[in-house]
Amino acid sequence: MKLLDGRLLRDKILVEISSEVARMSVIPKLVVVQVGDDPASDVYIRNKFRACKKTGIESEHIHLPNDVEQATLNARMASLSEDEGIHGVLLQLPLPEHLDDAQAMKLLNPEKDVDGFHPINLGRLLAGQPGPVPCTPAGLRALLEEAGIETRGKELVVLGRSLIVGKPAALLFLEKSAFGDATVTVCHSRSQNLNEICLRADILIAAIGRAQFVKADMVKEGAVVVDVGINRIEDPTSPKGSRIVGDCDFEGLSSKVSAMTPVPGGVGVMTVAMLMKNTLEACRRQIAMKAGA
Ligand SMILES: NC(=O)c1ccc[n+]([C@@H]2O[C@H](COP(=O)([O-])OP(=O)(O)OC[C@H]3O[C@@H](n4cnc5c(N)ncnc54)[C@H](OP(=O)(O)O)[C@@H]3O)[C@@H](O)[C@H]2O)c1
Repeated sequence: MKLLDGRLLRDKILVEISSEVARMSVIPKLVVVQVGDDPASDVYIRNKFRACKKTGIESEHIHLPNDVEQATLNARMASLSEDEGIHGVLLQLPLPEHLDDAQAMKLLNPEKDVDGFHPINLGRLLAGQPGPVPCTPAGLRALLEEAGIETRGKELVVLGRSLIVGKPAALLFLEKSAFGDATVTVCHSRSQNLNEICLRADILIAAIGRAQFVKADMVKEGAVVVDVGINRIEDPTSPKGSRIVGDCDFEGLSSKVSAMTPVPGGVGVMTVAMLMKNTLEACRRQIAMKAGA
């Protein structure tokens, strides 16, 4: 089995981005807006800023209190949209329950939306137009490309239909393009005959958030498996008493599949690399738009 190593590719991409940033006349700047103190978000944000440091991308952390009002968050997003010194803005999710992320996102200039979640950018993705692609699907596609795994004409099954992973991943692989052109099936919690559908997959993308859900009897011999899941399970043998696993039973699948991403060290680390790429591209587009204005 070939291991689709996200760390190797991430490091390569970050080096490429840092040399591009070094040649730019304007240094790209990313702002991360966080509300409250979700511990998982703290870890994700730390990783994002670490990648900014490695690439030379400037970064700023705006940390709002847990009880911030929607109007204040909205106003902040609107003012960041207008600030010409800022090229990328990311609203760290999840937000506290009293806040509506869609409302805040609508106020963000779509050109600064480095997550690709603004409705205009999701529309561009649907229409096959250039724009920022959500980082996790972009990262997993980059891993397949790097490994030379073709998707054209293949049966590709996506488990999960979230707006941040499942749906955009399905759209990407449906695109008429070199690493698209797949026959895509999307499954969710109401799908029937899940095992049968998964068994058809030449490429299976699991993004459901259920620890080790995909077992060996659900995958075809020689299939390629991309595991997006990040789940913490109890493990008394680990010093922490727990460990991170994906949505697939890695050990069970490893003797059956031809290639698979590890968790951790697969798709998760690629997501941050794609964020840096989206920030760099957002900065380039804004420079070009200014020059053309
Ligand atoms: N690697 C990364 O960078 C990265 C980024 C984002 C997320 N993740 C991880 O990826 C996983 C999914 O994240 P998400 O944000 O997409 O999750 P989500 O918003 O909770 O969506 C989960 C999706 O899986 C479907 N689902 C749940 N249980 C199922 C089952 N038993 N059978 C079939 N479908 C089922 C749900 O169906 P319904 O729509 O019917 O509810 C939903 O569409 C999580 O483990 C998350 O931590 C990783």
